[in-house]
Amino acid sequence: MSHVKVMTVFGTRPEAIKMAPVVLELAKYPEYITPVVAVTAQHREMLDQVLNLFKITPDYDLDIMSRGQTLFDITCRAMQGLNEVLVKEKPDIVLVHGDTTTTFAGALAAFYHQAAVGHVEAGLRTGNKYSPFPEEMNRKLTGALTDIHFAPTATARQNLLQENITGESVFVTGNTVIDALKVTVDPAYRFTDRLLQNIDYDNRKVILVTTHRRENLGEPMRHVYQALRDIVTTFSDVEIVFPVHKNPLVRQVVQDELGGIERVNLIDPLDYQPFANLMARSYLVLTDSGGIQEEAPALGKPVLVLRDTTERPEAVTAGTVKLIGTDREQVYAATQKLLVDDVEYQRMANAVNPYGDGQASRRIVAAILYKYGLTARCPDEFKAGNS
Ligand code: UD1
Ligand code: UDP
Repeated sequence: MSHVKVMTVFGTRPEAIKMAPVVLELAKYPEYITPVVAVTAQHREMLDQVLNLFKITPDYDLDIMSRGQTLFDITCRAMQGLNEVLVKEKPDIVLVHGDTTTTFAGALAAFYHQAAVGHVEAGLRTGNKYSPFPEEMNRKLTGALTDIHFAPTATARQNLLQENITGESVFVTGNTVIDALKVTVDPAYRFTDRLLQNIDYDNRKVILVTTHRRENLGEPMRHVYQALRDIVTTFSDVEIVFPVHKNPLVRQVVQDELGGIERVNLIDPLDYQPFANLMARSYLVLTDSGGIQEEAPALGKPVLVLRDTTERPEAVTAGTVKLIGTDREQVYAATQKLLVDDVEYQRMANAVNPYGDGQASRRIVAAILYKYGLTARCPDEFKAGNS
């Protein structure tokens, strides 16, 4: 084979942030690689801001998002749209990322067309079918359809080997989220947003909050927000910045519980550049996000995870991330501890990089070239602690 056509498929904000470095790397080898970019646009505004930042113009945009979309809506529309793209492009390999419904639909559509599947961020598992929902099964099912698994860590590779996936199809690459973070966070960055510009980061303890997981919708989220209200009431030096996800089911409960409360700044989702730089200036992060659990440890920020399970155990082991669930008292207690106990805070605020060294996309593209016989060299493996 002298040439390989590589189609990347993604649709949501985190997939875009983590696939952008791969798309940019694929474009560096025009003599060997014809890249095609197809977005489902399962997210719209939250996807577009990432495409703009990384200056990526998709070849295909399926524009499937609808307000309050169901899992069935996303799956059916993505499959239908991708079928047409695949008929036209006939790629050799389709790269999907992570665990969203776009991920699984992308892998299934590729399989129906007998194109190979490359899974970026493969092998993360909680072992619980319903947590995170539907992501755990999206990731597992995608893994079953995958020909080349790009595992971010040795733990992820181990998970795949335990499912009898052959070792030769797995490459440990590091997570591309760290590639993106490294080119985005800059101590000299100036916020354009007036609110973020005016926060006194030296004298206020800024708590950055995000929530969006489907299994946390409704009461679990409400309890978290009540705990946050208790926190600002007790601690006058705390300022909460909460970029609220676009999901109307999230926005409603946030408004109910936190609207109009002093020192609670409810804002629209931030673009990735201000968000990453805000994270770097925050005191502490509370989130149910997957990607933020990977980024904040690299920036030395403690993370309290508003979930009962995580498919990202590495930073928990390293001591910078703690699982605290969504119980009001528990969320309050864990947050309060980090506000009053400096020894505990310093213990968690160590910069660790169990997830990547900024070289993941280089390794992924090198592995594709190697697998298709376009280079004789097998890529080096990511080893935690080498960043
Ligand atoms: C999706 C993924 C989840 C991922 C998350 C990242 C699935 C099933 N879920 O969850 O794995 O962690 O993205 O954020 O794949 N909306 C907008 N504009 C946007 C984006 C969303 O208005 O740019 C609103 C729409 O009303 C949409 C709703 O948010 O219907 C929910 O979006 P959806 O992609 O279905 O679910 P997420 O919770 O975002
Ligand atoms: N993020 C962002 N703006 C925000 C909140 C998050 O750019 O207002 C970024 C964050 O830095 C991370 C990614 O979005 O890279 C995480 O996305 P999300 O939490 O929506 O999804 P998950 O990672 O849980 O799938």
